[in-house]
Amino acid sequence: MDKDRKLIFSGIQPTGTFTLGNYIGAVRNWKPLQEEYNCVYCVVDMHAITVRQDPIKLRQNTMNAYALLMACGVDPQKSILFIQSHVRTHAELSWILSCNTQFGELSRMTQFKDKSQRHADDVNAGLFTYPVLMAADILAYNADLVPVGIDQKQHLELARNVAQRFNQRYGEFFTLPEPYIPDVGAKVMSLQEPTKKMSKSDENPNACILILDDKDTIIRKFKRAVTDSESEVCYREGKDGINNLMSIYSTITGKDFDSITSEFAGKGYGDFKLAVGEAVADHLEPIRTEFARLSKDKAYLRECYTDGAEKALKYSQRIVSKVYRKVGFVDKT
Ligand code: AMP
Ligand code: TRP
Repeated sequence: MDKDRKLIFSGIQPTGTFTLGNYIGAVRNWKPLQEEYNCVYCVVDMHAITVRQDPIKLRQNTMNAYALLMACGVDPQKSILFIQSHVRTHAELSWILSCNTQFGELSRMTQFKDKSQRHADDVNAGLFTYPVLMAADILAYNADLVPVGIDQKQHLELARNVAQRFNQRYGEFFTLPEPYIPDVGAKVMSLQEPTKKMSKSDENPNACILILDDKDTIIRKFKRAVTDSESEVCYREGKDGINNLMSIYSTITGKDFDSITSEFAGKGYGDFKLAVGEAVADHLEPIRTEFARLSKDKAYLRECYTDGAEKALKYSQRIVSKVYRKVGFVDKT
């Protein structure tokens, strides 16, 4: 860890293969950030169990998520890359922060309202305190910046509020973390209902691109993407389907909206959808190959996540033991 660099923290849930939304909104940025920041990245299996998980699948998904992050360019030599449940400080700090979080502010979280409707038979306390654990993830490292998609902005504001409240009660201690949200691609929409966020929980498999989908599947899903009855490829209010495809194409190719519009002037939506599909499939191809290679090397993965957890514990332990002292717990030694 370079002392002059700011610290980045981010996490992702191991609930199946990442979607193109996860990739464009968050994970894609994790690789370049390693060059300028101290980065701490985490597979948040403890967050995942706030909704029912099959234990065998959770274990598998956690390993896959870990390997996928590496395949997306997270380098365990450059960053601290680990599995949340391996590092006890997260749960420890979460308890203390929960005693500094109000019932009212957690009740306002839109993700909680959303998920408690979708999982009405299991509105458990963990689902409610989910954002406190997320605040603990971030504050246990005193992170400066948190790269996430826009859907996590409210949780991040809560983390800042909790940090601020703690600082007021116990004296300045926590850094207030800033969100790091991309200008384009912070919310990739469903290909079938482009007013809704692309999500792996969507029932319609054509709505969502998974980053391990093969080329033919990706192109087929883009060909079926819902657009509108016009024919001009341009970014305009109300053209949700086309706007979404343009944002995806722009983040993947680096082209701005004007140059995309001129590239497809006089061509139809069919040509455009095919081009987006091909660009995305070609971009994801090396990730798929690298994932296949890494997945076979379980011993190497184990070495990486063991080492990551050790480093994460060492770093966060310093901070959390200061928190213990600040709140008045008796020193163990
Ligand atoms: P999750 O899969 O909920 O753990 O999300 C992991 C990261 O992906 C978070 O930073 C989310 O904000 C981001 N994310 C999830 N879905 C999308 C989406 N459709 N568009 C952009 N970012 C997303
Ligand atoms: N709640 C985040 C999501 O669903 C995942 C997450 C957990 C996270 N802890 C975090 C993201 C800390 C950033 C920082 O996407």
